[in-house]
Order: sequence, then C-alpha cells, then structure tokens
Amino acid sequence: MTDPLNIPSSEAALAQGGLSHVPVLAAEVLEALQPAPGRVCVDGTLGGAGHTGLLLSAGAAVYGIDQDPYALDRARQAGRPGLTVLQGNYRDMVALLSGVGVSQVDGILLDIGVSSFQLDDTARGFSYHTEAPLDMRMSQSGESAADVVNTYPEEELAAIIYEYGEDRLSRRIARGIVMAREKAPIETTVQLAELVKRAYPGFSKGIHPARRTFQALRIHVNDELGALRDGLQAAETLLAPGGRLAVISFHSLEDRIVKRFLLGSEVLSPLTKRPLVASEQEQAANPRARSAKLRVAERRPA
Ligand SMILES: C[S@@+](CC[C@H](N)C(=O)[O-])C[C@H]1O[C@@H](n2cnc3c(N)ncnc32)[C@H](O)[C@@H]1O
Repeated sequence: MTDPLNIPSSEAALAQGGLSHVPVLAAEVLEALQPAPGRVCVDGTLGGAGHTGLLLSAGAAVYGIDQDPYALDRARQAGRPGLTVLQGNYRDMVALLSGVGVSQVDGILLDIGVSSFQLDDTARGFSYHTEAPLDMRMSQSGESAADVVNTYPEEELAAIIYEYGEDRLSRRIARGIVMAREKAPIETTVQLAELVKRAYPGFSKGIHPARRTFQALRIHVNDELGALRDGLQAAETLLAPGGRLAVISFHSLEDRIVKRFLLGSEVLSPLTKRPLVASEQEQAANPRARSAKLRVAERRPA
C-alpha cells in the first residue's frame, strides 16, 4: 500500500528487491528537499537507494554517493534514469561532484550510519549476533575492527568505547580485550561479543552488552563523526542559494554535531528548531525509525 506521496510501506519496499532499504522519514525528506524536474540533488548516503528512488520519482536528478562498493553495485544494477552513482566518501562530495562537472546543487541528503542490508550481511562483521570476521569497514579499505582491538593500547580502546559507545564499563571491557589478545588474536564478532559480555557478570537477558562496543568500533573504524563534520562543511560549499540540506542521524553524538554546526554556520539557516522524528505509525512499521532525527537547513541567499 502506498500513501498519497507514493512513499513505499515497509512491505512494498521490501518487495522491490534491488532497492530494499526502507527509507526513514521519507515524507519529511521530500518536504525538505522539494525534488522536482530541473532540481539536482545529492544523496550522500545512497545505501539501498530508498530515498533516492523517491527523489527520482519526483523528477529530480540525483547524484548518489556511497563508500560501500556493494551498495553501489546494487544501485547500478537497479539502473534508474536520472541517477548518477559515485563511489566515495560523502565528506569528499565537492571533489566527487566536480569530477562530473557539477559545482552547485539544490538539495543534499545525508542519512548516516549503516543500512539494513549491511547489518543483515553477516560477512561484514557489523552484527554481534552472528559469527563473522571482525571487519566493519563500509568502504572495505583501511583499518578493520580486528586491527583496532588487536593493536590499540588499552587506554585508547577504553576511550573509544566510552566516547562512541557511551559504555560506563569501557575500562573493564578494554582490559578484558587486552588480556584475551595476549593469548590469541580476537578475530571474530562472536569472540568479541563474548569478551564484552564477561565485563557484565550479571547479564542474562535484554539488550546484549556488546551493542555499545560494536557501535563504538563501527563509528571509529569508519570515522563516522569526522566524515559528518566534513560533510556538513562540504554541503555549505555545494548548495546553491536557497538549496536545502537534510540530515538524518541515529544517535545523540551525531545529532549534537549537526545541531551545533547549523547553529554556528554563517551560510546555512536551520529550518528545524527541534529535530523531526518519525510518527508513531512509522516507528511501529519500521523499528529503525525509532531513533531517527531529521534536521533541515537552507543555504542563505548569496
Ligand atoms: C542508512 S544507509 C542509507 C540508506 C538510504 N537512505 C536508503 O534509503 O536506502 C547509509 C549508507 O550510507 C553509506 N555511508 C555511511 N557513511 C558514509 C560516508 N561517510 N560516505 C559515503 N557513504 C557512507 C553506508 O555505506 C550506507 O550504505
């Protein structure tokens, strides 16, 4: 079933096969970016092309960026007219767009974090539920999560787990990691999840204690907060006067960065005083939407 904006329901989106990521806050993103024929948008986090599909359907041309080669393959296979796919980090969007002759756009979307298909692909090592190599690199290059846990000093591991995972037992977890790796390298997701669990002796049911540590490692390995800061600056450069930026974040660390950046920007005016959140209906249909927060800003006239 679709609503008047033709926004796919979870079931319909899942049935689309190649483009299977259910876009969060879709109506709000369309309202913010106002896609239409003649308007050019950048989707800096193409992922399953859920939002991009909607922007294209509304007639906009879309430059879709993703650092994950698998996401790009999927989007290329889906082959939508009006979509240009660019591999890279959205923090480099000015250079990526300049490479295809574009210096100004009307809308930019950042829907940050990992997509459902990355989480579901057990081989990527994002999930603590299933045994897989401890990888977590969206771009498939650079330091993996295994490199981090096996080589970083204890203090640094504790700082990452505390800062990006907000885990109050970060020191104990880091100690456990260092003691374990002295015996043998930590190579898999389940190995690490079990180590973290040992730092929580009373744990029996509820959210797995490894969730925060995995989040922290993922943020660190992919430099997600650094990319966000750079991406916001790049958006200032790339947006035409009157152009709109929409950023969807999934935890408070990210939302804080976006909020502060927009408040301090000399070229972008925030259009959302408080972040927009998903309706109860959307949250019920798509659990991923529960923590989503959308902030929108507009490039001031030149
Ligand atoms: C939450 S998903 C986006 C889902 C998409 N909006 C949709 O509706 O299908 C995030 C995607 O952004 C990509 N990504 C995350 N950080 C990135 C970055 N700094 N540069 C480029 N791509 C990034 C991930 O690889 C993932 O495919």
